[in-house]
Amino acid sequence: VNLDKYVCQAVYGYMPSSVHNAIVDARTDDPAKFHVVSDGRYERFQEKIIDRFQDWVRPEVDLLPFPYRYPTMGSEEAIREIMTYLREVENADRIYTLRGEYEGYKAVAGTRGLPTVALDFYELLAAPPGFLFLSNPSARDGNVLSNTDLNQLAARHKTILDLAYLGTAPLDKPIDTSHAYAVLTSFSKPFGMFYYRIGFAFARTEIPSLWANKKWFKSVPALTAASAVIQHVDRRTLLADMKRRQTLACATIKDETGVMLTPSDSFLLAHAHPETLAWYDDDLAQHLAEFRRADTLRMCLTPTFESQRTG
Ligand SMILES: Cc1ncc(COP(=O)(O)O)c(C=O)c1O
Repeated sequence: VNLDKYVCQAVYGYMPSSVHNAIVDARTDDPAKFHVVSDGRYERFQEKIIDRFQDWVRPEVDLLPFPYRYPTMGSEEAIREIMTYLREVENADRIYTLRGEYEGYKAVAGTRGLPTVALDFYELLAAPPGFLFLSNPSARDGNVLSNTDLNQLAARHKTILDLAYLGTAPLDKPIDTSHAYAVLTSFSKPFGMFYYRIGFAFARTEIPSLWANKKWFKSVPALTAASAVIQHVDRRTLLADMKRRQTLACATIKDETGVMLTPSDSFLLAHAHPETLAWYDDDLAQHLAEFRRADTLRMCLTPTFESQRTG
């Protein structure tokens, strides 16, 4: 069985036709749209887009309390610059994560000279106060952390809440950001716009190394595409459609490979308990074991979505 046809370890995203069509209609492929730049017309270009974005995500998260807002290249650029800020301004000597988190935290922290301490939930509550990078829905298994858990962690550590998966999972209640130090968002995962590199970062204080992103260092064509998606894509319809595709993808994988996966809250992911490895022959078990992170096996369903693309 070739599992790579169905699942991958890195998490990308899937661009549904509603997103595709909104971007086509925005005509970002016409350079004439972006010829004139010297009159400063693009210096505040993102402001209205971020206003609309805040309205659009309002049922899922309230971002209005954050006075400093930056366009970023996905959430990754915000992770880089916030880590630099923590090291240089806040004198951080480490960052915390949950075990099994997005590996980019450790990779970027390493390039800033910051060690990463990965702990489980209760260990984090007992650790000396510091800075915590926390994804929600969680990159560990694609499931949503409760506001109770979130607030317990945020009461202990200054928490950088990474909402890269926002829009990919149904929520019982809006995510509580009242204790967050900063909040990061991205268009990569919910809309399959990974290579457009679009995100917005929200902070309570100025992050000096992101300041110039507002004025100059942003992709206006990519922001134009993002703006079209905000105006023309209905988040609830997209989520319902992708949750159906996720169920279908897991059923296809079971039928065609025999591998039984549990759909995560996030439509992009599925997971399984490591004990289920015993159900499969050695080759398959060995391949599946490569998906292990902390106490779960986690996989991205993007390859199955792409092969089942209709229209
Ligand atoms: C939790 C989390 N945050 C951030 C990122 C960075 O992605 P992007 O910069 O495309 O938003 C990823 C990508 O895998 C991720 O899983």
